[in-house]
This record gives sequence, C-alpha cells and structure tokens, in this order.
Amino acid sequence: MFKNIVVLTGAGISAESGIPVFRSETGLWEQERVEDVATYEGYARNPAKVHEFYNKMRRSLKERKPNPAHLALSRLEQEWQQGEVTVVTQNIDDLHEKAGSNNIIHMHGELRSAWCEHCDEHYPWEDDTSAATVCPKCNVKGKVRPDIVWFGEMPYQMGRISEKLNACDLFLSVGTSGVVYPAAGFCQIARAAGALCVEFNLEHSAGFSSFNYGLYGKASQTLTEFVDHLLKTGEALDKV
Ligand code: APR
Repeated sequence: MFKNIVVLTGAGISAESGIPVFRSETGLWEQERVEDVATYEGYARNPAKVHEFYNKMRRSLKERKPNPAHLALSRLEQEWQQGEVTVVTQNIDDLHEKAGSNNIIHMHGELRSAWCEHCDEHYPWEDDTSAATVCPKCNVKGKVRPDIVWFGEMPYQMGRISEKLNACDLFLSVGTSGVVYPAAGFCQIARAAGALCVEFNLEHSAGFSSFNYGLYGKASQTLTEFVDHLLKTGEALDKV
C-alpha cells in the first residue's frame, strides 16, 4: 500500500500545453545557446538578452493552460487520502498552480518570481525585468534578475526534496529527459528508500534503467490513466 508520493516533472508535461521542451529537434536549446541565456556568465555578458529571453516566456504564460497531465496531478493531491503528494518540478512555468496543485517545489525557480541580488529577496513578479528595474524591497536599481536557477547554480529546496524522496513509497517522473542533475538522480534516491519508481515519457529517458518500469506515450494520456487507477484501487497501473 502506498503512502507518500513524489512526482518529478519536466518540460515534457507542459509540451502539450504549447510550451517548447529544451531538448528536441525544435527544442529551445536548438534556438539559443545554454551558455548565453542559462548561465550567470551569459547574464553578466549580456543582461539585456537574458532579461528579454525570460520576459518573452513570462508574457507567453498568459496564453498557456494546464493539460490533462497537470490536472491529473492536482486531482491526485486533492483525493489521495493515504499520505502526501508532492510535485517537484524542474519547470519554471505556472501550469501546476493553474491546474490547482498546492504542494509544489519549483527546484529550478519560477518565471513569476524575481530575485534581487542586492538584498537577496525573492518575490512574486508579473512584469518584465530589465537592467533598469528597481527592487521594490531595497530600492536598488539594476540588481533584479529572473528567479531562475541557471546551470552552475544550486537548485532550490534540496533539503526538503531529499526528505520527501527518502519518505516516499511511489516516485513518478513525468516528461523529463533525465540528463540534468541533481533531478536526474532523484529516482535512485527514491529507489534506495524503497519506492516503486515509474517514468512517463514519449521514449526511454537517459535514466530509464533506474526505474522499475515506464509508461510510454503522451503524458496527458498515460498519467491520467495511471492516476485514475491509483485513486480507484490504491495500486500502480501495471506495465503494458
Ligand atoms: N508526454 C511525455 N513526455 C514528453 C512529452 C509528452 N507529451 N513531450 C515530450 N516529452 C519528453 C521528451 O521525450 C523528453 O524526454 O519530455 C522530455 C523533455 O526533456 P527536456 O527538454 O530535456 O526537459 P527537462 O528534462 O525538463 O530538462 C531539464 O534542463 O535546460 C534545463 O533547466 C532546464 O529544467 C530544465 C532541465
């Protein structure tokens, strides 16, 4: 019988909502160099370019709606009686929130948040950021950056994530290629803690051999079926 559930999500869960993934033929990292827009060095070299990259994404969130995979996770959190459901997302979009999930850890930051490097405050942010942005907390100009964890930076809430992984019986990984650490190692931690580990993807991820099994196809379908079965029976859907 399962009690606590951790769900790791990646760009693939939002793909069916029209947000491009990072690694595919048409993925974001084919259009922009990671070093330019997702490292502190790139930001220091060309802040305007980096602000604009995230401004564009933040603006586009208004048009994005959660898909059945996000909705399935929200339903799971609301209806699961046996224990806790935690969503750990690598995504910086707001689709888990829009779907109604509450117990969410944004380990790679959020588009709808900003961070002042001067006063070290993180706060909700809906507008564009630029080198002219003044921090509403300390009034210093030019130190407000997108609240995104870039390559080379420490993901958020690792202590809390580690606690959740070590206390879960069921670990689901949805729409992530499994190449970016530390998230790519979460399955091994959960597995060592005794959890059943299932991946949901279009194809085998880089870390698929660490999972007990995978369900392959669009997450809107596979995850919805899995959650329906789990809520009805308390059991994991068998590998098909
Ligand atoms: N259903 C299920 N899986 C899907 C779907 C779908 N509809 N569409 C795509 N996928 C899968 C792809 O097969 C791929 O394995 O989603 C995965 C997306 O992989 P990436 O683009 O690498 O995204 P992610 O794993 O979230 O990237 C991790 O890398 O660039 C950084 O910080 C960024 O958080 C991001 C991290």
